[in-house]
Amino acid sequence: MRRAWLWMGLALAASGHAAAPAALYQQHCQSCHGEQRLGGMAPALLPQSLERSKPAELLATVRDGRPATQMQGFADWLSADEIQALVGWLRTPAATPPRWSEAEMAASHRQFVPLAQLPDAPGHGADPANLFVVVEAGDHHVSVLDGERFTVLARFASHYALHGGPKFSPDGRFVYFASRDGWVSQYDLYSLQKVAEIRVGLNTRNVAASADGRWLLAGNTLPENLVLLDARTLQPVKTLPVRTQQGQLSRVSAVYDAAPRQSFIVALKDAPELWEISYNPAAEPIYDGYVHDYAMGEGLAKPGFLNPRRTPLDAVLDDFFFDPDYRHVIGASRDGRAQVVNLDIRRQVAALQLDGMPHLGAGITFKRDGRILLATPNLKTGQVSVIDTGNWQEVTRIATPGPGFFLRSHERTPYAWVDAMMSAQRDTLTLIDKRTLQVAHTLRPRPGKTTAHVEFTRDGRYALVSVMETPGELLVIDAATLREVAALPMMKPIGKYNVHNKITRSEGTSH
Ligand code: HEC
Repeated sequence: MRRAWLWMGLALAASGHAAAPAALYQQHCQSCHGEQRLGGMAPALLPQSLERSKPAELLATVRDGRPATQMQGFADWLSADEIQALVGWLRTPAATPPRWSEAEMAASHRQFVPLAQLPDAPGHGADPANLFVVVEAGDHHVSVLDGERFTVLARFASHYALHGGPKFSPDGRFVYFASRDGWVSQYDLYSLQKVAEIRVGLNTRNVAASADGRWLLAGNTLPENLVLLDARTLQPVKTLPVRTQQGQLSRVSAVYDAAPRQSFIVALKDAPELWEISYNPAAEPIYDGYVHDYAMGEGLAKPGFLNPRRTPLDAVLDDFFFDPDYRHVIGASRDGRAQVVNLDIRRQVAALQLDGMPHLGAGITFKRDGRILLATPNLKTGQVSVIDTGNWQEVTRIATPGPGFFLRSHERTPYAWVDAMMSAQRDTLTLIDKRTLQVAHTLRPRPGKTTAHVEFTRDGRYALVSVMETPGELLVIDAATLREVAALPMMKPIGKYNVHNKITRSEGTSH
């Protein structure tokens, strides 16, 4: 097939016509992006890989290249029509979808340091619980920051396009990253080195780490499955195809750990189902009438340990978060509807009346007058909705300068910080007083520059804020006086994660 395309392409080129895109790809692109577009030294170029990029951006990338990377521009080599056709072809699914077998996954595993050679204690002298891991998307690097002195302890190249937020082992020692192209990496924060990596799929949503330190669960969109890894070694343990009750394949939209339940919760992108996968060895068996996939002998039940238990939903649930006791999942669907699902009785118990498109994956909870409130930013409208988790009624809506992405706080600070990065006011941060539910301050530390994503030091004293530009900065702001105390140069720091706040599941941050 490839040979035929190549031949046709050459023949067309020779006759003065634009060459066929598949042939152009093999001629100019495959050496870096891989013969099957699965990636190599350069990222994968599958439709699933590119779906978040605008066609115009892709055209510009192929025409002009990306400065300071191996991606050169092809304007001198290819005509505008050829570039257009090539980009169109890259965005079109192949007739036979690419596969990623368990054997290929296993073969991709790499151990950089044997576990036995890792030291027993940190060697860097900083408080290991007050480190920050900063994801720099500008040049695909990660920085490890001392959260007391605000110095960079280590900086290393990551796989292309990390996302979903890194996850930590329960002792805070290891941090796990998932990349868009399916690479899961393990990094040791004691000795500041990469330990292992494995490619779990061709396109991955995110990874969750179990609270008992034993498992990682990666949620893929290509292939449509979940991959369970041993958290110590990243060796694959089990692959679970994501099939709905009707047997249809579905992509995964998010997977999170629900520590008190000893389970992972999985949202499906193409089907109205929510899955719970228990990692409690004593989990109850599962009777859902769909034993044929996982049948154990002739029995009607399958073991509850490491098998999915389904909750049927009214609508597909895209992203979600938990209430503080992990009994409820609060999730949004693409049409902006929000639902509350009780994980014990396995059904929806409330629908939230929220405008626009609440970004519930970035919601937070906090206590006020003995009630537990949840607050969520909104991707479509400039407001933060506050909901009482006791009765799921909206308490108030707080107007902000524009639609925002992240909302963050900390037990020891009175303010919740929200950005407006989805709007023209993307350089502002709005501080909402959790006691009065009013806007207390508006900050604009770098006028004109996208400013978003806040994470606090373990004691809540300082807020670390991203200036998401290339080059950008990481600002350290005193959370009480609101004065800037430090600024570190960073390449588009899209997220930063404090070890202590993550492993203690601080109420002010996503998990
Ligand atoms: C010498 C290696 C190399 C060659 C040859 C190459 N690329 Fe790239 N390409 C890269 C690298 C590296 C990146 C990632 C750049 C970055 O870090 O932003 C990239 C990025 C891209 C992206 C952006 C991907 C994304 O997800 O944002 C597109 C699209 C792309 N290349 C298309 C092409 C096409 C089409 C060709 C052939 C005409 C080609 N590339 C040839 C190395 C290469």
